[in-house]
Amino acid sequence: MTAMGDIVLRKVTKIFGPAPARALETLRAGASKEELLAQTGHTIGVREVSLTIEAGRCFVVMGLSGSGKSTLLRHLNRLIEPTAGEILFDGQDILRFDSDALRRFRRDRTSMVFQHFALFPHKTVLDNTAYGLDLRARDRAARRAGRTTAQHWIERVGLSGYEAQYPGQLSGGMRQRVGLARALATNAEILLMDEAFSALDPLIRRDMQDQLIRLQTELRRTIVFITHDLDEALRLGDRIAIMNAGAIEQVGSGEDIVQRPASEYVARFIEDVNRGRVLTAGAVRLEAIVVRENESPQAVLARLHAQPLAVAYVADAQGRLAGALNETMLRGAGPGADLRAIARPVPSAPAALVLERVLPLTLESDFPVAVLDEHGAILGMLPKDRIIAELAARQRAPRG
Ligand SMILES: Nc1ncnc2c1ncn2[C@@H]1O[C@H](COP(=O)(O)OP(=O)(O)OP(=O)(O)O)[C@@H](O)[C@H]1O
Ligand SMILES: [Mg+2]
Repeated sequence: MTAMGDIVLRKVTKIFGPAPARALETLRAGASKEELLAQTGHTIGVREVSLTIEAGRCFVVMGLSGSGKSTLLRHLNRLIEPTAGEILFDGQDILRFDSDALRRFRRDRTSMVFQHFALFPHKTVLDNTAYGLDLRARDRAARRAGRTTAQHWIERVGLSGYEAQYPGQLSGGMRQRVGLARALATNAEILLMDEAFSALDPLIRRDMQDQLIRLQTELRRTIVFITHDLDEALRLGDRIAIMNAGAIEQVGSGEDIVQRPASEYVARFIEDVNRGRVLTAGAVRLEAIVVRENESPQAVLARLHAQPLAVAYVADAQGRLAGALNETMLRGAGPGADLRAIARPVPSAPAALVLERVLPLTLESDFPVAVLDEHGAILGMLPKDRIIAELAARQRAPRG
């Protein structure tokens, strides 16, 4: 299913060189990137890429240098034309746009943030920020309105007071804030960011990531973000695509990729990842036995025996966690005992909590941590040894 505003790529291929159509046949016959180059002198930029970039989400593209990330991104506003394939936006084939429609698409619906800021050195911060708005403005009133909008975005990225300064007077991080303000000011729904934060110091970079995350929770733009940095990808990406030699090796959530790398290449990327910061309680929980507070201790004992779990959680009438029981506690209880009265308190964690933050909770109790959904209903349990095993695991790619 594709929704309004989704970007859909179908078998997009880009071959660089003098006769790409002929080289395409060699490629389709199965030549590798190296073979194609050796045999025909052509370079594969992007190879049969099919994917959907969902509207309002942040889609991250990762891969080694030369794997085709920038080439892929530049297709999305047709700075590069594919050798073959289709690119749809809102269900329309952008490759069919005439020059007028293409100009409007680029100006009104997309904006780009570059690694090296690409600001105009002779324009002030305010003029740089208003640049995309000026392109659209038809009269002086519209230009004035553009200044007000630009001013608003300068404030949003934390640069109030610097409006009249020139890029040469700013630090790298500040320049990139101007780049971001300029991209946001036009209200374009598609934000294309090619290594936008890579030139920044680690701390400033982290600041910019936080700022983008904060803005995005409110703005819900469609962001395509390219990075070499796995931590950045995992922080920003709702979905992550890993590219290799022009092709997509895997697309998925950060959690998918870390838990189930599709290939050796992907496995190498995630080798050193801090799993505790990526994997969530919800993704690695085990099934739990949940009993109602009005059940009899004997019935609960029977259920515990039937399954390999030594613990049952008690839920109250609203389905919320009221405590935990084990066999010893149940055996000691009389037939009419109230389960709530004999249950012990148990730590709980929301499903979205990352394991790094769940682990300390296991110190509070010998019972496994109860994993809850956003309404407080019990989704499952997470024993301490399971958390440790997940943190220590090294994911291997599937064989074959
Ligand atoms: N204009 C061009 N002419 C010829 N080949 C090109 C051109 N642009 C890119 N390529 C080739 O296409 C492939 C992909 O390049 P691209 O710039 O997309 O890589 P990238 O993943 O963005 O790398 P990096 O991380 O270094 O920016 C490379 O092999 C490159 O040599
Ligand atoms: Mg690049």
